[in-house]
Amino acid sequence: MKGIDMNVRDVLSFSPLLPVMVVHDVDNTIKAAQAMFEGGIRAFEITLRTPIALQAIRELRNNLPREAIIGAGTITQAKDLQAAMQAGAQFGVSPGLTAKLTQAIQAEAWPFLPGVASASELMQAMDNGFDTFKLFPAAAIGGVDLLKAWAGPFAHARFCPTGGIHAGNAADYLALKNVLAVGGSWLMPAEKVAQQDWQGIRTLAQAACALKPQTFESK
Ligand code: 3PG
Repeated sequence: MKGIDMNVRDVLSFSPLLPVMVVHDVDNTIKAAQAMFEGGIRAFEITLRTPIALQAIRELRNNLPREAIIGAGTITQAKDLQAAMQAGAQFGVSPGLTAKLTQAIQAEAWPFLPGVASASELMQAMDNGFDTFKLFPAAAIGGVDLLKAWAGPFAHARFCPTGGIHAGNAADYLALKNVLAVGGSWLMPAEKVAQQDWQGIRTLAQAACALKPQTFESK
């Protein structure tokens, strides 16, 4: 199964808010994703960190409106990539990049957002044909200041920072010309899932999506 008829830049432009989802229960995951969808979110990253992650990807593909784009995160090896694609994930995200993973990505026509954390990693990934990156862990390695500094030498690179993004700083990132989207777990807090507070999750999504106008016109 291939991904979608979009590259990863299109995916991020379509949904500038990307929930990073650590999933423990399939029904709760569907309900949380439905609440986020109702709040305006259109792309979802299901991290391959829990045993039910692949099943959750399959179920989200079946249960969310077709407009929703379901991705797989925490892809660290070629076998994760294959498993995610087989489960129906429409794009992939990794926290970093290795030579083996690069080869596996290049062998597939599948939208992919590789993680970078340094100028040298970015340059190596650009040498391999990537132009859009997860900056991870964004806040810990310089956040907004780092992205501003990279806008000079790497003017054509675009980013989705994750790691330490929250409702209080997401707008600062989204205002940057080289940031297409921001991602994070704050959009689906574990305690709200445990309490099945779907209205609370919907409200968080609505607030986050309200940050995006005026920032995406010319990126
Ligand atoms: C990721 O994989 O992007 C991070 O785990 C998300 O980081 P956060 O929990 O700080 O949002």
